[in-house]
Amino acid sequence: MSRTLEGRTAIATGAASGIGAATAKRLAAEGATVLAVDLAAEGLDALGDDIATLVADLSDPAAIDSIVDAAETRLGGLDILVNNAGVLPAGAIDELTDEIWEFGITVNMLAPFKLSRACLPMLRQSGAARIVNVGSILSRYGDPGLTAYTATKHGILGITRAMAAELGPEGIVVNCVQPGAIMTGMTRDTFETSPEAVEHYTTKCVLGRIGEPEDIGDVIAFLAGDDARFITGQGIIVDGGLTLRS
Ligand SMILES: NC(=O)c1ccc[n+]([C@@H]2O[C@H](COP(=O)([O-])OP(=O)(O)OC[C@H]3O[C@@H](n4cnc5c(N)ncnc54)[C@H](O)[C@@H]3O)[C@@H](O)[C@H]2O)c1
Repeated sequence: MSRTLEGRTAIATGAASGIGAATAKRLAAEGATVLAVDLAAEGLDALGDDIATLVADLSDPAAIDSIVDAAETRLGGLDILVNNAGVLPAGAIDELTDEIWEFGITVNMLAPFKLSRACLPMLRQSGAARIVNVGSILSRYGDPGLTAYTATKHGILGITRAMAAELGPEGIVVNCVQPGAIMTGMTRDTFETSPEAVEHYTTKCVLGRIGEPEDIGDVIAFLAGDDARFITGQGIIVDGGLTLRS
């Protein structure tokens, strides 16, 4: 395999599980030096010795500084930031408390913005700076019971577009990957306990399956590399055609 990211440095958040873990591994396989960040130490340990790790809770304002410090000292700079960590603030409208909203907004929207802002000095030093945010098909559509999650995922796509417009003149490329239904820590319980949910998504998906984390990590690695140099401000739906049909 060619190593398209040889010599690059990368941060991937939410890398202890699911899409983030697949992304960290793919970036490392492509030759990048990766700092994997998550609040779950156990999952980070499973990434192996080739990937540097940092336990940090992105809902804690102090975490941003600790991640930047670790990038400076352990990576020596930054070319690629993958804002992947996310939570699923769910509930029917009548049950969506302010706390659920604030938690979702903090992790899914504010943390990616704050981390991107804090990493800008390092990204400005890179000749190939990339920010890849992880949205969702719910950055475009809406589902019942997911008003807060849907709003945060619309928000991260908006952040992507505005940041791409502002940072493009500096050569910093910003995109958003929008996964469909993927088997990860966020969804495993549902898919393992609800054959109806599996049936629904596999039937609706024109490729006829639930996605794997690598289906998304591979696209993130593409967007992080030189081949994607002229793509910016885009939301890229990666859902096996789940949302293709009317
Ligand atoms: N799985 C899907 O079907 C699907 C679909 C669309 C979008 N997404 C998005 O993909 C991203 C990755 O989720 P996933 O599906 O791999 O789920 P996951 O639960 O397997 O992974 C999410 C990771 O983020 C970490 N995390 C959560 N809050 C954090 C915080 N405050 N600080 C640090 N780390 C934190 C978790 O510990 C976990 O390791 C999320 O942004 C999610 O919204 C997932």
